[in-house]
Amino acid sequence: MNKTAQAPPVFRKTADTFAAGAKTLPQQYFVSEKIFEEEQTKIFAQHWVLVGHQSQIAKGGDYFSAQVAGESLITVRDQRSTIRGFYNVCRHRGTRLCEDNGGQVRAIQCPYHAWTYALDGRLIGAPHMDEVPGFDKADYSLHAVNLALWEGFIFVSLAEKSASTKRGGYISLEEWFAPLTGKFAHWNLPTLRSAKRIQYDVRANWKLIFENYSECYHCPGVHPALSKLTPYDSAENDLSEGPFLGGFMRITKGKSLSMSGNACALPVGDLRAEDHTRVFYYSIFPNMLLSLHPDYVMVHQIWPESPERTRILCDWFFHPEAAAVSDPSYNPEDAIEFWDMTNRQDWHVCELSQQGIASRAYEPGPYSPRESIPAAWDREYLRSLKD
Ligand code: FES
Ligand SMILES: [Fe+2]
Repeated sequence: MNKTAQAPPVFRKTADTFAAGAKTLPQQYFVSEKIFEEEQTKIFAQHWVLVGHQSQIAKGGDYFSAQVAGESLITVRDQRSTIRGFYNVCRHRGTRLCEDNGGQVRAIQCPYHAWTYALDGRLIGAPHMDEVPGFDKADYSLHAVNLALWEGFIFVSLAEKSASTKRGGYISLEEWFAPLTGKFAHWNLPTLRSAKRIQYDVRANWKLIFENYSECYHCPGVHPALSKLTPYDSAENDLSEGPFLGGFMRITKGKSLSMSGNACALPVGDLRAEDHTRVFYYSIFPNMLLSLHPDYVMVHQIWPESPERTRILCDWFFHPEAAAVSDPSYNPEDAIEFWDMTNRQDWHVCELSQQGIASRAYEPGPYSPRESIPAAWDREYLRSLKD
C-alpha cells in the first residue's frame, strides 16, 4: 500500500470533465426486477461493500448484523480484538444464528440445538455430537466472509477468491482502495466516533441517490439553506472517472454546514489550511457516500431493497474527544439537524424522479455539463454490470 506516493490531486471544475452527449439511464434500470437481481449478483455480491465502522464494535463480543446481496452476515470483534465476518448460518441445520441487529455476546449460540461458536468462528460446543462416529468440531467452524478495514470502515466481499471476472477477478481491499491511499489521512477517519445514526426508507431506486449526491445543479432550488453556506457552482473534482468520484465545494473558514452556519466541533483531524475552506464529497462504489467537513464526517450507506426502494443509513462522525468538556463548540445537533433536513430534501426529489421515470412518457434526458459526475457514475455502473 505504501509502494507509490500519491501525486497531489488535480481539481477540475465540474463542467470541464463533461462527456458531451451523456444522457440519463433508460427506464428499465430503475424499475426492472431482473436488473435489480443482476445488480445484486454482479455488484453487491462481488464488490467490497461498506457495512459499518470499527467504533460500532469497540469491545470484544460486540457485534452487528448486515444484509448483503440477500445474505445475512455477522460482523463481530473477537476476544483478541480482531474484527471478523461470518455468514449468519448454523453449521448444524442452517438456522439463522443472530436475530438482532447487534449487541454483545460471549459466544455465538444457535437458538435451535445450542451449537456454540467462539467469536473467531470455531465450533466449541455441540451437545451429544460426540455420539456421532467421526464427528470433529474442527470441521464445522462458521463460514467466514471476506472482511477488511479501510480507514476504520468495515467492508465485506462475498466474492469467491478463486473466481475471476473480465475486469481481473477478486481483488483485495487494499488493492481496491490503492488509488485513495493516504488521501484522507488528515481526517483521522479510523479514530472517529458516530454521534448519531438515522435510517431512511426512500421510495426511489438506489442509483438515483448516487446521481443526486453527485451534482449541485439542483442545489439552488432544492436546498436554499445549503446554497447560502456553499456556492452551488463551486465544485471542483479530482476524481472524475471510475469507482471513486468527487471533489470539494467551498465554505468560509470557521464556518461549516450546520443550522447555525458555524463549525460545531473541533476539527476532526490535523487538516491542511485549504481543507478548512472545503467540504469534500466522494462516492465510493457501490454503497458509500463520504462527506468530509472540517468539523465532522458524514457517511451514508446505500442499501437497495427493491427497484423502487432504498434503505439509507446516515452516520455523523466526530473527533473522539469532541464530546469532552474541553470542546465548548461541540454541538453535533447543529450538523445533524442540518443534514437531516438536507437529506430529506434530496430523498424527496429522488422519489419524485422515481415516479416520473416509471411513466410511459419517460425517456433518457440530457445531462447538463454540471452533471458530469452523475454521468461518470452511470458509466462506471454500466461497466460493473458487464463483468
Ligand atoms: S440448527 Fe443450529 S444447533 Fe441445530
Ligand atoms: Fe442535494
